[in-house]
Amino acid sequence: MKEKLHIIPHNHTIGTENRSQLLGHEPLVVWFTGLSGSGKSTLANLLEQQLHASGILTYILDGDNVRKGLNSDLDFSDVSRVENIRRIGEVANLMADAGLVVLSAFISPFQSDRDMVRSRVGSQRFLEVFVDCPLEVCEQRDVKGLYQKARAGEISSFTGISSPFEAPQHPDLVVKTNESSQEECLNQLLNKIKPLLNQKL
Ligand code: ADX
Repeated sequence: MKEKLHIIPHNHTIGTENRSQLLGHEPLVVWFTGLSGSGKSTLANLLEQQLHASGILTYILDGDNVRKGLNSDLDFSDVSRVENIRRIGEVANLMADAGLVVLSAFISPFQSDRDMVRSRVGSQRFLEVFVDCPLEVCEQRDVKGLYQKARAGEISSFTGISSPFEAPQHPDLVVKTNESSQEECLNQLLNKIKPLLNQKL
């Protein structure tokens, strides 16, 4: 049996509330989920520009970037994807605790992992955004040329082709990137997010 670890957290004097007061807005984790090529990073980038311009402290956690650093030891097996999201969830939680508005853009294909992050971060500061775009459209866009490689058998366990994607059951917001313009999606996001930030400017 695993030895019991004697870890007793310290209660620091300065907490999230103090940092929120300093920043002038509440923290939030905006969790984009969707297929590769659905538009998660594009929307996170557009949203960040708008929030930043409004004086909100933001940070983007992005699949391709985090997998080059913190998670460079992980592949695309189910087990690694679970660990990928667990670690990112912890990082997002720390950043939210630091007072930031975190925009996270990962396929995050499993509902149980997204639920786990929600409960870790706390429902009141977590928004699950389903970037909904049909596989055929993502495949047609094939921005990175990966769908073609997956179809040719050069990439195994590719989401939507040889690895599952569980669409969110109760997302806080759905943006349909094949039906709405980027501007419309962005407005949907801002309408949802801004009231939650209680921004004092
Ligand atoms: S997740 O499933 O673990 O959440 P994550 O968002 O970190 O995935 O990484 C997805 C990105 O990695 C894709 O946008 C794509 O560029 C790249 N990628 C490389 N191999 C795969 C694969 N087998 N399945 C999905 N995406 C892959």
